Formats: sequence, C-alpha cells, structure tokens
Amino acid sequence: MKNEIQNIKKLFEEDLINAKDAASLEALRVKYLGRKGIIAVLMQKLPGVAKELKPKVGKELNLLKKDVEGKIKIAQSTVLKNAPQKADNIDITLPGTWKDGGKIHPLTKTLNEVNDIFISLGFKIAEGPEIEREFYNFEALNIPLEHPSRDAFDTFYIKEDVLLRSHTSTVQIRIMEKTNPPIQAIMPGRVYRPDAVDASHSFMFHQVEGLMVDKGIKFSDLKGVLNIFAKQMFGEKTKTRFRPSFFPFTEPSAEVDVSCIICKGKGCRVCSHTGWLEILGAGMVNPKVFEAVGYPAGKYTGLAFGMGVERIAMLKYGIDDIRLFFENDLRFLKQF
Ligand code: DAH
Repeated sequence: MKNEIQNIKKLFEEDLINAKDAASLEALRVKYLGRKGIIAVLMQKLPGVAKELKPKVGKELNLLKKDVEGKIKIAQSTVLKNAPQKADNIDITLPGTWKDGGKIHPLTKTLNEVNDIFISLGFKIAEGPEIEREFYNFEALNIPLEHPSRDAFDTFYIKEDVLLRSHTSTVQIRIMEKTNPPIQAIMPGRVYRPDAVDASHSFMFHQVEGLMVDKGIKFSDLKGVLNIFAKQMFGEKTKTRFRPSFFPFTEPSAEVDVSCIICKGKGCRVCSHTGWLEILGAGMVNPKVFEAVGYPAGKYTGLAFGMGVERIAMLKYGIDDIRLFFENDLRFLKQF
C-alpha cells in the first residue's frame, strides 16, 4: 500500500507536467480525485490494511489527496491567468451589449444648421445676457413706454429696470455699443415671455437675431441673405415673400414667409391653405437705434432679422407641439 501511494505520487507528478491547459487539468482532476478516481479506489482498500498500519496509511492517503488537490488548483489558476484570449473563446452568436448612443437635441440640431448657414455667409456668432436692463430690451430699440410688450404681463420683471429679455434684439445694442461697423453677426439665445403654455406657446424659447451694419447696406442685401438662408434651410426650391410689417427698431420692416415646405405652395392644413409659412421678422435698422448706440447720424445703414428656433424646427420636422422640445421624452428625442 505504501509503495502504491509512492507510485501514484510519481505518476501524478508526471501527469501534472503534461497537463498544460484547462481541459487536461480537468481530466487529471477526474482521474485522481473523481468519485471513481485513483485515490478513491485506494481509499476503498483501506479497510483491508493491517490494523496497526491503518492510521499511518490513512494519514498518508489523506496527505496524497490534499497534495493532489492543491497542485491541481495552483496549475488551474496559472493556466487561467496565462491563457491568451483565444478567438474561439468568444461566442460571436451571443447578442451584443447595446449602448444607446446619445443624440443631439432637435433644437440644438436646428440651431447648428442655422448657425452654419450664416457662418458660411460671413456672419460671426455673438451672445448677450438673458437678464437685461430695460434700456437694452426696449428704449435703445425704440420701443416706447406705451408699447404693449413693456407691460408687466408681457415681460418677466425681476425688479424695476431688470428683466428677462423678451427677444434677442437686445444683443444688437450690446454689439453696436462696443463695436464700430462693419458688423456682421448672428445672436442665438433664450428669450422669456410670461405666456400660458400650450401647443404653440412656451414661457421660454429660442431666437436667432441677425445684424449687418456698414456703409451702404441695402434692402436688397436683406433679401439676398434671407433668400439664401431659406433655400439652404428648407430646400433649393423654397421661395420667400416679404410682407410689409412694423417693428419699432426697423424701418421699413417686413415679415418674411417661405413657400410651404409641406405642400410646396399649393395650400394645405399646415399653411392654412395660403401656400406660405411665416418664419421671421426683418427690416432695415431704424436710424433711432443707431442714435441710441451713438453712431453718427446718416453714416451707416443696416439690416436686421429675428427668428424663432422652435418655429423653424417645428416646420422643418413637422412637429405640432412646442412642449415636446422641453419634456425630455426619449420616445420623441430618439427620432432625431
Ligand atoms: N425682436 C422681434 C421679436 O421678438 C423679432 C425681430 C423682428 C427681430 C424684426 C429683428 C427684426 O431684428 O428686424 O418678435
């Protein structure tokens, strides 16, 4: 029995040297430690051993078992550590772990497109504060005290003379105060109005203002710039229409329509069967505005325009409720 234990020990050491991967180590474990393995068979012989030798033989058998167990474990962990990631270890038929990619918000996407078009025409991007003084939101823009937009119900006042800007035209003034012409800038940003929220109103929305001031800027420049914008934004076939209008800070003023992008001008529900969609307000900078920023009288002319980003995005993507932009509903946002 003693010899047998010694032989098995030797045999095991030899086998161990040859077992170089996980499968052969497992086979080795079964061969020696399995229920019908070599050591189990030896254990079964123990009752036949002479009584006085039994404790010693039993002890040696146990030692052998522990030794074999320990050595196999060590060999297994070494194999595991050193195993190169073999291609056939990877089951390529398993479904992958899907990471939802982030997306650009439709408003940001629209704003980026608007910015890109004007940048390609030589405009620079400028920004101004959302909390403003009355001078920038109203007076400098030739909006008189009796104008309805100055009413407490039409503007968020923080305190006297301090308010949340109701349009981005404020930034025109801030630029002109600091810079002499030529000026060619667009001014994107948030604006605030205390409107009750519904499908077409929000107390906060986004505008892009445009301003170009120099000697000899003409109404035809305004038409040219906005024509290019409309075609690039809504498609080459898009037509524009300038309707006479009124804004205190421009003279003359116009409301600009594009041919309906849904029915191409034929008339449909979206354009109320007119064939046209209003997209922005525009005009030639009122000399009173130049006066407010201290430009010499008669020296410069300028064009200005202002558009709502939500409106542009709603027309472009056929969205019928402004609230969708701000509700963070992924079912909506994932579509862009
Ligand atoms: N500020 C106007 C508004 O909020 C939009 C606007 C109209 C801006 C005409 C302009 C402009 O620069 O020329 O409704």
